[in-house]
Amino acid sequence: MKCEVFSTEAALAAALGRRIIDMIGRQPDVVLGLPTGRTPLALYQELIRLTHEERVDWSGVRTFNLDEFVGLGRGDRGGYRTFMENRLFEHVNLVERNIEFLDGRAADLDRECERYERAVVASGGVDLMLLGIGVNGHIGFNEPAGSLVARTHRVMLDEPTRAANTMWFDGDLERVPREALTMGMGTILQSRSIVLIATGDAKSEAVTALLRGGVTTRFPASFLQLHPRVRVLLDVLLADQVP
Ligand code: GLP
Repeated sequence: MKCEVFSTEAALAAALGRRIIDMIGRQPDVVLGLPTGRTPLALYQELIRLTHEERVDWSGVRTFNLDEFVGLGRGDRGGYRTFMENRLFEHVNLVERNIEFLDGRAADLDRECERYERAVVASGGVDLMLLGIGVNGHIGFNEPAGSLVARTHRVMLDEPTRAANTMWFDGDLERVPREALTMGMGTILQSRSIVLIATGDAKSEAVTALLRGGVTTRFPASFLQLHPRVRVLLDVLLADQVP
C-alpha cells in the first residue's frame, strides 16, 4: 500500500479533490465509491468548490455509497443518503439514475443487498473507491468479527461504532440504528483502485494496524493489504504517530 502524507487535512482534501476532478475530466462516466463520516467532509467541500470554479460536468458520473442504516432512507435525518444529498449530491449535476444507494427502508433487505451487488456488476465496476476507517478497523460497516461476509449484507453494529455515529443523530445514542447494510469487503476489493483517507490523532492505532499489522477479520481494513492499488492518505498529525 502506498502512503502519502499531507501537511494538513485541507491540503489532503485539495490534492485528492484535484485528482478526482481530473479523473472526471478524463473519464466522464467514471464510477466512484463514496463514504460518509467526518473524514470526507473537507474533500466533498473541495469537490463542490472545484466543480463550481471549473464548471465540472458530473452528468455522466456514477456513484455507489458504501452503506446505510437499517430503517433509514431518502429524506431521513441521520441517514447516510441525507448526508450525501446535503454534502455533495445537491451541489453538483449528478443525475438521479446514476446515484446508487442502499435503501435501509426496503421491505426485503436481503433482496436490497442482492440488488446492490447486481448494480455494481452492471455498472462495470467501481473505478475509484474512497474510504474512511473506523477506530476499530471497520470499513463501511464491515465490523471486526470471526468471519466476514464478502458481499453486500445486513450487519449488527458494534457499540463503539454506534457511539461514533451519534454526531449524525444530535448526540442521541438511542436514535442511532442498531443495524446497517454495507458493501462487503469482497465487493470493495473488486474496485479498480482504492483511496483510504484518515486524519487526526484518534485514528493512529487504526492506521498503525492497517499499515503494519497482519490480515485478519478482527480488523477488516487489513484486507486492503491484498489489493494491488490502494493509497492511504494521511495528514501529518496522524502520520507522526504511526511508528
Ligand atoms: C462510519 C462509516 C464509515 C466511516 C467510519 C469513519 O461508521 N460507516 O464508512 O469510514 O465510520 O467515520 P469518521 O470519518 O467520522 O471517523
